[in-house]
Amino acid sequence: MTDHCGALPEGPVSAPPPWWKTAVVYQIYPRSFAEGSARTGDHAADGVGDLRGIIEHLDHIAWLGADALWLSPIFTSPMADFGYDVSNFCDVDPLFGDLGDLDDLVAEAHRRGIQVILDWVPNHTSIEHPWFQESRRDRTNPKAAWYIWRDTPPNNWNAAFPRGDTAWLLDDTRGQYYLRSFCKEQADLNWDNPDVEAAMLDTLRFWLDRGIDGFRMDVVHMIGKDLTADDPPEAVAKQIPHVPFNDVEVTHERLRRIRSVLDGYPGERASVGEVYLLDEDAMSRYYGDNDELHLSFNFSFLWAEPTPASFRERITTTLAHLERVGGWPTWALSNHDVPRHRQRHGRDERLARITALLLLTLPGTPFLYQGEELGLLDAEIADEAMIDPGRRDGCRAPIPWTAEPNHGWPTSPWLPFAPEAEHRNVATMTNDTTSIAHLYRELVHLRARSPSLQTGSFSWVGSTSRGVEGGGVEDGGSDGEGFSDGEVLAYHRGDEWTVVANFGSASVELDTFGLNLRSVLATGLQPLQGRIVPGFSGVIARRD
Ligand code: GLC
Repeated sequence: MTDHCGALPEGPVSAPPPWWKTAVVYQIYPRSFAEGSARTGDHAADGVGDLRGIIEHLDHIAWLGADALWLSPIFTSPMADFGYDVSNFCDVDPLFGDLGDLDDLVAEAHRRGIQVILDWVPNHTSIEHPWFQESRRDRTNPKAAWYIWRDTPPNNWNAAFPRGDTAWLLDDTRGQYYLRSFCKEQADLNWDNPDVEAAMLDTLRFWLDRGIDGFRMDVVHMIGKDLTADDPPEAVAKQIPHVPFNDVEVTHERLRRIRSVLDGYPGERASVGEVYLLDEDAMSRYYGDNDELHLSFNFSFLWAEPTPASFRERITTTLAHLERVGGWPTWALSNHDVPRHRQRHGRDERLARITALLLLTLPGTPFLYQGEELGLLDAEIADEAMIDPGRRDGCRAPIPWTAEPNHGWPTSPWLPFAPEAEHRNVATMTNDTTSIAHLYRELVHLRARSPSLQTGSFSWVGSTSRGVEGGGVEDGGSDGEGFSDGEVLAYHRGDEWTVVANFGSASVELDTFGLNLRSVLATGLQPLQGRIVPGFSGVIARRD
């Protein structure tokens, strides 16, 4: 914001922010989103979601107002890890459709102003990938060094699935151990081999040439590894997988080369990395000097306790570290790997409404996981009935589209529905203006209309200094001196907005948080009672 009224200073007019800074991103887990009624050929309904299903339901995403969608993997896969075990990076699995369907989906999304992000899986391939098939044959074949082979396990690393199993598996054909950080069917690629890097960069080009807008990069912090570094023995004994310990320097130069590929294309092609390091300082370094990832997921926020103190601490720390590197934050509370946040946070919808307010009013890019706009819980699935090697079935329950028993699916879906689907379904909730789905929609739309919410400053209420409007992630209030009340989180966005999230049971006065505030949107179901923020609710208020 300029502080003088005369002529504007000379200089270039600042460019509008790139889409990935202002977007609300909606994650689609294709198996569970929707099954199309109009599959081409003789593909009978099989209860698994597909690309036609997504096309048929794009209007829901447009209704919500999301600007981008991230598709969990749709590449050819034997599905040992439900698509994260890729056997061809440059084709669509027949279960989901074909390349033509994907082109149609991209065209239909773009027609609605929605960008499309694919899920690129650079750390590993399926053991059925032709590269691995060749690599495992013997020690001298042309792809012998494309994976990580050793005569004996060089370290104590644990795999992720199943928990506690060694990450090194003996392959009888080749007579050596291969590294698999996840399932036994997912072999880690050897990124130290330049041929592997070149082949993987080509897979990015394949999709960029087809008009894809960006990539979510699966466990991308693992494309560099130090095989000589053991994990802490106590962590290994607790069956913690190697993934959150993998943080080595060489990854950064590889990310810079990945970034150059994206930057070589017209438009703003973007990357968001799954950097599963639960430390904001380490995570922030994967933005590089604005030359590595465009965005990184922030798992320390996702795992925050649903209390003002925990959220406040994680937000403050995140903003401080990202400000240091000039990185743009992301915020997510759920995804396809973790129990849904309403499930984790004690099931109370009032809390899910408050966290929706935070997610959509913090400075940075919010990522929504399909179904959170319905306030879904996880499906209840007995341990012995789980089919995912990581036991993540519950959060992957299919989206209920209607109130009918099959909830709009042409046949019974591959996983059971979450509880309450008779009223927590898209048809019922979009018809009810008091539903959580409408709250999400109103917040997304409010954000879309407000530059202050998209790119304005952030400061905690009561802090001494204020960030500069339009300055991105300025956080003048991250010094911990702000308004402190054990039950309330309150912050300003730009000079325009104040957000008050009341986690306690007692009402609080809006006037406590600033003068001339007028509530514009409240999360609670009761009509606004004067200048009061009732217990277990939040408001976003405008300064008049
Ligand atoms: C990521 C994905 C997860 C997958 C794993 C291995 O964490 O989000 O679903 O199982 O990587 O690819």
